[in-house]
Amino acid sequence: MFGEGPRGATVMFVGEQPGDQEEHAGHPFVGPAGKLLDAALEEAGIDRKTVYVTNAVKHFKYERGAKSARRIHKKPNDTEIRACHPWLEEEIRLTKPRVIVVLGATAAQSLLGKQFRVTQQRGKPVASELAGTVIATVHPSSVLRAPDGEREQARSDFFADIRAVAKHIAKA
Ligand code: URA
Repeated sequence: MFGEGPRGATVMFVGEQPGDQEEHAGHPFVGPAGKLLDAALEEAGIDRKTVYVTNAVKHFKYERGAKSARRIHKKPNDTEIRACHPWLEEEIRLTKPRVIVVLGATAAQSLLGKQFRVTQQRGKPVASELAGTVIATVHPSSVLRAPDGEREQARSDFFADIRAVAKHIAKA
């Protein structure tokens, strides 16, 4: 599944891979992680209709649950990330975003290399030839998966990173 957004969008958000709901709907970031991303965008004053939203890996990788037919997300491996990289590169080439936001470790691996550590470098621009400004933050799913006692903090840190992105968009 390809990304979505206006050609020439100033900012591109890159996630991991479409999830179950995205694959059914045929649109990126429409499930629970997408709803959290939408909330963070809204709070930061970024209109989702103006941004390009895509994924490092273009298909939903899953396994069947042991007791139900539920499709359970599986993390993409290096080969899958590499195989999808040309499509992502082409989306960047065509869109020419001035700001790229890397959401989580898979997107970071695809665009910034395997050594990049989102937890250490989140929220600040990183040197990259991909766009004028490239910023990484955690994947919204990691906020949803955080343990009960840590979820509020994880959410507020994620929202703060998206507010930082909004400042860079204003300057871009
Ligand atoms: N998670 C992602 O990384 N991408 C989506 O499109 C949905 C969930």
